[in-house]
Amino acid sequence: MRSSTETQRLRMALLIGAGALLVGTLSGCSQDDGLTRIVFAAGQDPSGATAALIEEYNAAHPDVEVTFQVMPANTDTQHDAYTTYLSARETSIDVYSLDVIWTAEFARANWIVPLPDGLIDPDAFLSGPMESVTWEGTRYAVPWFTDAGLLYYRIDLLADAGLDVPVTWDEFTAACAAATPDEGMGFVWQGARYEGLICNFLEFLWGRGGSLDRDHLVSSPDRAASEIAGTIDFMRSLTETGVSPASVLTYKEEDSRRIYTEGQALFLRNWPYVWSFAEGEESKVAGTVGIAPLPHAAGETSYSTIGGWNIALSAYSEHPDEALEFISFITGTHSLKKRAIEGGYLPTRIATYADEDVLTANPYYASFFEVFKNTKSRPRSPHYPQLSDVVQDKVHRALSGEIDSETAARDIVSELTELYAR
Ligand code: GLC
Repeated sequence: MRSSTETQRLRMALLIGAGALLVGTLSGCSQDDGLTRIVFAAGQDPSGATAALIEEYNAAHPDVEVTFQVMPANTDTQHDAYTTYLSARETSIDVYSLDVIWTAEFARANWIVPLPDGLIDPDAFLSGPMESVTWEGTRYAVPWFTDAGLLYYRIDLLADAGLDVPVTWDEFTAACAAATPDEGMGFVWQGARYEGLICNFLEFLWGRGGSLDRDHLVSSPDRAASEIAGTIDFMRSLTETGVSPASVLTYKEEDSRRIYTEGQALFLRNWPYVWSFAEGEESKVAGTVGIAPLPHAAGETSYSTIGGWNIALSAYSEHPDEALEFISFITGTHSLKKRAIEGGYLPTRIATYADEDVLTANPYYASFFEVFKNTKSRPRSPHYPQLSDVVQDKVHRALSGEIDSETAARDIVSELTELYAR
């Protein structure tokens, strides 16, 4: 948990930032030039596709000027910034890009507005992302892109060692011992104390038959705790046996991605955006990148965490009509296609998967439905941030050796049970 002083400092810094943004927006141009200004806040898009789409939109709408407010990539930092802006009823941001895990919290706080009927055709979108924009039967956002955990591997290194793509964790660790390019660089993943750790942890847990679901914790607390402790022990064994570097406990998406595209790791767990980097000009592994489902324990099933981002209208926007028109554009077929081709972002519209240009740029999409048959959501709750914070803290401390796995597991079960009951 952050200390209250730290939280206060962060909130203060964010409010000053929001104020500066507001002043910047208002003073950037005089207000009598007839332009309606819309600010769109979203995480950075290193491919540049989003910025190019906004330019295109502005060129086609002479009366509107959309500004891209680029946020830090880390989802937790974005969350803290947005909740600070919205608690202060900040009007300078009209449109927010929201992680799939926040819908319940933002809807319950009335920070985002239900979508007007007819803005989208729900049947045109994949069902998982559609579910993620819905809270208590109401749709609050438009699905933008979807994510699911993937195993990236090196086709050349496995072939040289005469190995098949591993399916179970035993096969996986044996492959790391036989084909790793550098000592300790068999497998990189996201082990820093942040939301990404939850996504990785759940995949390890689900792949051993465990779960953090409310009903499971309430009905079988001892069993749930032993599954959680077993999962933490397994994750710890990865660094202890040299399958993963000890520094994996500081890695977020981009840290682990860079190591893989530099050719230093055999396996990487990451999201689909990595594909365009791995096959891009600066990659040292282009042409030898394989994608597979994540491994699982013998006798169990592989599951990926479903992630992704949705686009919502701020309840405090002063230009809701213009903002909604922009939302339709940025989540429309043309935008999703461009972002899929240039940035590798998995589209949320079903039809985009049949687009030949999209498939040429991302050939693995053809087998996408096979790979992602088994995706699961993180717990859906308006208290999700607190719940995630508990798991991040306990798991990370146990992985760092500060507390033992049984204590971490017991604390997770009791604290989550209490949060679920709120
Ligand atoms: C990706 C996912 C998001 C997840 C985050 C964790 O951005 O789309 O859902 O929370 O990674 O780092």
